[in-house]
Amino acid sequence: MASIESLPAWQALQGQAERAAELSINGLFAQDPHRFERFSLEVSGLLLDVSKQPVDDPIWSALLALARARNVEQQRDAMLRGATINHTEERAVLHTALRVPDGGAGWAGAQLAEQVEATRSRMAEMAAAIRAGQRTGVTGKPIRHVINIGIGGSDLGPRLVMDALAPLADGPEVHFVANVDGVELERTLSRCDPEATLALVVSKSFGTVETMANAYQVMAWLRRSVPAEDVLERQVLPVTANLARVRELGLDPDLALPMWDWVGGRYSLWSAVGFAIMLGIGPERFQALLAGAHDMDRHFAEAPLDTNAPVWLGLLSVLNGSLLNRRSQAVIPYTERLARLPAYLQQLVMESNGKSVDHESVAVAVPTAAAIWGQTGTPGQHAFFQALHQGTDVIPVDFIGVARPVAGERGDPLELTANLFAQSQALMQGRDGAEMTPARRCPGNRPSNTLLLEALTPRHLGALIALYEHRTFVEAAIWGINAFDQFGVELGKVLAADLKPTLAGADDGGSLDGSTAGLINRYRRWHR
Ligand code: F6P
Repeated sequence: MASIESLPAWQALQGQAERAAELSINGLFAQDPHRFERFSLEVSGLLLDVSKQPVDDPIWSALLALARARNVEQQRDAMLRGATINHTEERAVLHTALRVPDGGAGWAGAQLAEQVEATRSRMAEMAAAIRAGQRTGVTGKPIRHVINIGIGGSDLGPRLVMDALAPLADGPEVHFVANVDGVELERTLSRCDPEATLALVVSKSFGTVETMANAYQVMAWLRRSVPAEDVLERQVLPVTANLARVRELGLDPDLALPMWDWVGGRYSLWSAVGFAIMLGIGPERFQALLAGAHDMDRHFAEAPLDTNAPVWLGLLSVLNGSLLNRRSQAVIPYTERLARLPAYLQQLVMESNGKSVDHESVAVAVPTAAAIWGQTGTPGQHAFFQALHQGTDVIPVDFIGVARPVAGERGDPLELTANLFAQSQALMQGRDGAEMTPARRCPGNRPSNTLLLEALTPRHLGALIALYEHRTFVEAAIWGINAFDQFGVELGKVLAADLKPTLAGADDGGSLDGSTAGLINRYRRWHR
């Protein structure tokens, strides 16, 4: 694959980007009364409006030409048919196969579809039995609490979905424990009746230190509190791709729900990693979540580039981040139900595309993943929006709104949505006037996307998450990087393991750098 900056399509786009930097978005609306229709599209109950981006026809054509020059469609098709596109780990990337209805064989072959379907059925049967109180804890009590022990991709997706769909939760209460500091663990255990608790140990590798440490704690708590020999067999369920390690933990691998090496951790909520979701909202709604994601998969697979929502978002992200040097992107959901979306997207985007070498192991000459951050509106408006409106950095925003409120829920949906729309309007229009002092002026011309969901149902949520997954894919395809490995997170883990004995006082850390040695000394003094 040629380096991105050597492509004529890239060079042409660079010329266009200089114009994009100067374009007045307001002016574009004045020139074209149909701009909204031209730059918005609807997929699976999601309206995507990108008309407040600095693009006109020549810029749009240059972006699409780049997508063609980078073979985005061919790269997409290779992923969907199960080619080994994760070259550094020699793996296929098939999270999309997890959402094909009834294990449909069309996408990645019959054998794989059978595995997916078998696991889905096993999950559904088990979830139904637990939710109905037929499969109980070891002492016969129905399961009323589920603790999902996992981190990163084994936590963020299920946590986001359970938060978002809380009004539909009608099963056991689902708790999440990720951090190893003990806070979530204490809080969770104090709320759970051990005889009525099922612990899910969710780890693709089954070697993640934080997850294993928390799993040991929960297992010890169960053994201590429940008077039955086989409590762990009945009340601890591993979800993993590493059955050998399950045995090492003293658990029965036959009980485990499988993960596969062709599903990356941050793309795994659709697999058995989502078992907590299925327990919380039921197999049918979990199925609807998958169906929504599959709707988006079909759209991504079938829509031409110029009406393809993930392609639009990926290209605009490249325009803003790599060409206009806007190095962070804010994600602002206008509902507390999606408060965890920015954190989820941080892992999805930054762990996938925070890379600096391309498929040929050559340094990428353009900036890759921008920093993703955000929090909900309206609270965010009273915190960091000042910088969005008047700061020196231009920060593109994704605004996310929901049109239909949850029935019976208190709140002021009109106030909320008026604020949502007003903010993207204000960012674009700015404020000026001869009588206005500079401190009061807002420069405007600040870009945003708006995503309006018809409702926050499992199906719409599935489509929304899949949209961002594919947007991330498109960015990587343009940059020519592998979105599916994450070697950068390893070094810190290795060094942490090395430092632990020094922290515990086993040696004096004499060989360490001055800063780390100084910190350890002070820690040891205060820790005692
Ligand atoms: O530390 C990064 C990471 O490997 C993520 O990619 C992954 O989602 C997370 O840790 C958890 O990994 P596992 O599911 O193997 O415990």
